Amino acid sequence: MRYRKSGFIILLFITVTIVFLSCQHAPYVLPADQRNGDPSICFEGDILPIFISNCAKSGCHSSTSTGEGSGWLFDNYDDIMKRGIVPGNPAASKIYQVIAGTAGPQMPPKSEPSLAQSQIELIGKWIAAGAVNGTNCPSLCDTSVYTYSGAVKPLMQSYCAGCHYSGASAVGGVTLDNYADVVTAASDSAMLLGSIRHTLGYPQMPQAGIKLSDCQVTQIEKWIKNGMQND
Ligand code: HEC
Repeated sequence: MRYRKSGFIILLFITVTIVFLSCQHAPYVLPADQRNGDPSICFEGDILPIFISNCAKSGCHSSTSTGEGSGWLFDNYDDIMKRGIVPGNPAASKIYQVIAGTAGPQMPPKSEPSLAQSQIELIGKWIAAGAVNGTNCPSLCDTSVYTYSGAVKPLMQSYCAGCHYSGASAVGGVTLDNYADVVTAASDSAMLLGSIRHTLGYPQMPQAGIKLSDCQVTQIEKWIKNGMQND
């Protein structure tokens, strides 16, 4: 009787240990057939631009970088997934941990602007819904919206400000992380529009091969035509 009881306890202990250890080693992953994505978030339009302008800069995590961060590429879906995204589980995703500051080194590093809380939350929601590779998603962009707060500011924040932020190192002499500086840049509208339209003779912006959609370019054009108001 005594033996049976202690045998049971040992067995129970082993089972609990196994369950505990397997939990430790294998974080929850959303099954592939349940990765439906969040209809309000498009990888190509909403998530990739944040990675490109904040992480994939040259010298950091781009394909041309050679420094410390060069093993981590953040300019395309496959490479972003390969290192550090657990579909359905932001808390276990290395990339989410470093941007949210819950584990590992804080990224972007202190010398660079940190991501906005809204961007961290967006990436978290995208991972939670399965981290799907949405391309050509039905665009949430609407050309009838062209206010600074409703269109221009969020565009600049996602696509441009990670490189063009206030500070000594303002690249190309252009700063795009606040209203006054966006107005300054847009006052030379040929340069600003030339760069986002990828007109010959202007550097193509955002760097790293992506291009704003026609709708997004139209929003910026309309905002400029309307007097670049702080609306
Ligand atoms: C990955 C970093 C990066 C991102 C993202 C980026 N830029 Fe740039 N931008 C640069 C660099 C570097 C230069 C200066 C070098 C050059 O002229 O190519 C520059 C130059 C510019 C210039 C100056 C052009 C000129 O003729 O001197 C404009 C305007 C500009 N960027 C606008 C934008 C806009 C608008 C966005 C977002 C839609 C953007 N950039 C996103 C890195 C970036």
